[in-house]
Amino acid sequence: MKYSTNTSQHLTIGHVDAIDLAQSYGTPLYVYDVSKIRHTMRAFKAIFEKENVPYVVSYASKAFATKAIYQVAQQEGIHADIVSGGELYTALKAGFDPKHLSFNGNNKSWDELTVAVEKGVGTIIVDNFLELQILSEIAAQQNVKQDILLRISPGISAHTHEFISTGQQDSKFGFDLLTGQAKKAYDIAQKDENFNLRGLHAHIGSQIFDVTGFEKNAALLAETAQSWGWQPAVINVGGGFGIQYTSEDEPLPESEYANAIIRTLKGKAAEFDWKMPEIWIEPGRSIVGPAGQTLYTIGSRKDIPDLRHYLAVDGGMGDNIRPALYEANYSAVLANNPNAPTEEVVRVAGKYCESGDVLVWQQALPKTQPGDILSVLATGAYGYAMASNYNRNPRPAVVFVEEGKHQLVVARETYANLTALDKDYTLETTS
Ligand SMILES: Cc1ncc(COP(=O)(O)O)c(C=O)c1O
Repeated sequence: MKYSTNTSQHLTIGHVDAIDLAQSYGTPLYVYDVSKIRHTMRAFKAIFEKENVPYVVSYASKAFATKAIYQVAQQEGIHADIVSGGELYTALKAGFDPKHLSFNGNNKSWDELTVAVEKGVGTIIVDNFLELQILSEIAAQQNVKQDILLRISPGISAHTHEFISTGQQDSKFGFDLLTGQAKKAYDIAQKDENFNLRGLHAHIGSQIFDVTGFEKNAALLAETAQSWGWQPAVINVGGGFGIQYTSEDEPLPESEYANAIIRTLKGKAAEFDWKMPEIWIEPGRSIVGPAGQTLYTIGSRKDIPDLRHYLAVDGGMGDNIRPALYEANYSAVLANNPNAPTEEVVRVAGKYCESGDVLVWQQALPKTQPGDILSVLATGAYGYAMASNYNRNPRPAVVFVEEGKHQLVVARETYANLTALDKDYTLETTS
């Protein structure tokens, strides 16, 4: 895994000394290198520009949603995808243009949809028949002709962890294609004057390392529309582009995923004699994953001869649930001196009261001391986003670094925050 160091042999992030960051902001600490985020956003756009096809890159903010990341996305001129009223609220608070928002989700509430239409969310990606019905009522009430896409369940399996695979038929997401539900939804939406049906959407899964699933998905969405005698304005193939967590992972460059999708849809447009539809992608992990890392302070250790060396840090599953939830692998380096020769293989454990509270299953490291700083790499996606207050641990702070400068973008929670919503029990009872 790539990382950089300075003359003090310390790990640097965006040209900032990681040890200084840990001392300034404390640990656990999520740190994002914004120049890497911008680079990936621009790389995706550049591929579509080069191929001269209409497109939308929509950052899947479920991967990491704070005011600051919506502001960076807006600065880079890309759209954002939201999946809840809370993400919508955060995006609007960040000053994000609602026209550039798309709203995904398999059970959007009446209130979430009402606010979304009211605030002018550009595109709602309709997932089911109940939503089709209530969104039509809401749009009529507000006298809005709402742009929508229909989310399809394409019956395409992506080779990834079962919990992050969404394209197979047995999925909670989208209108099922194979049983004709998608066609039924199309007929309803096409006729509904409260909707401007712009296209189709299907997301097949996450952390995917080959292009075949994306090619199949893009082709199937186009063939489906053609089979209905319809030329959609938009084909949205979702996100899912894999990233490197350990040296065993071999993700493809953004260009390979995007070019495979473009090639497929250009081919279909020619075959069906269509005007080239807009190609929408919704990358999340690939935009923020590699740009983020989490700094921890090393604490206790446990050595079980001939079995295991445990190294405990001051965070864990409350700030990165993925190893426990998906058995996800990560890599870590000693921030004090990442290039020092490794001397042992350890399991990096958290401080939570769970055996499953592991951050890195197996990591070769130099000898470490309590108080040293460990950095777990590529934690930018689905880390802070899935953080919790388990064991009543406050959620860590988030810092953005860019060009040698650094800024706090989410303050560390305090114990007082943890009890802010707690109420004293004052019910008078007979017991
Ligand atoms: C509808 C949808 N779009 C986009 C994404 C982003 O996927 P990824 O972070 O793998 O790019 C997801 C995540 O699972 C999703 O459910």
